[in-house]
Amino acid sequence: MTKPVALAADHGGYELKESIKAHLDERGIAYQDFGTLDGASCDYPDMAKAACDAVVAGDCRCALLFCGTGVGISMSANKIDGIRACCCSDAFSAEYTRRHNDANALCLGGRVVGPGLAACLVDLFLDTPFEGGRHQRRIEKMMALEQH
Ligand code: RB5
Repeated sequence: MTKPVALAADHGGYELKESIKAHLDERGIAYQDFGTLDGASCDYPDMAKAACDAVVAGDCRCALLFCGTGVGISMSANKIDGIRACCCSDAFSAEYTRRHNDANALCLGGRVVGPGLAACLVDLFLDTPFEGGRHQRRIEKMMALEQH
């Protein structure tokens, strides 16, 4: 069975997370919501950690993360060993971060992208496979940077 997608947002990304949950429901894609569950003010590093830990542990297939810009939560996610997070607001980046970077977290800004574009970006991210090949060597070098 396919593992669920991990979701997390701070207050700046809460509404967009909720709209993406409705989109995932329509597609029949399972998810686990790590909060915020009520939109109350909270800190994006805490939210990133909750969802990314589930990805690193192998309990979730990838993470969809949301804050106001998508930037703070992506910076936080990329501090976690094993996470390759991409903050983006365009379709090409959402597709190619899967094809070339084997990204396992997509970060979106609730104050940057609307729900329609966000759903397109999520679909591209979830549906695009990693190409492997020459990109695998680069991923290995990237992940080796965690040791420094
Ligand atoms: C919260 O106001 C805001 O700073 C946060 O959601 C995010 O945009 C940070 O990068």
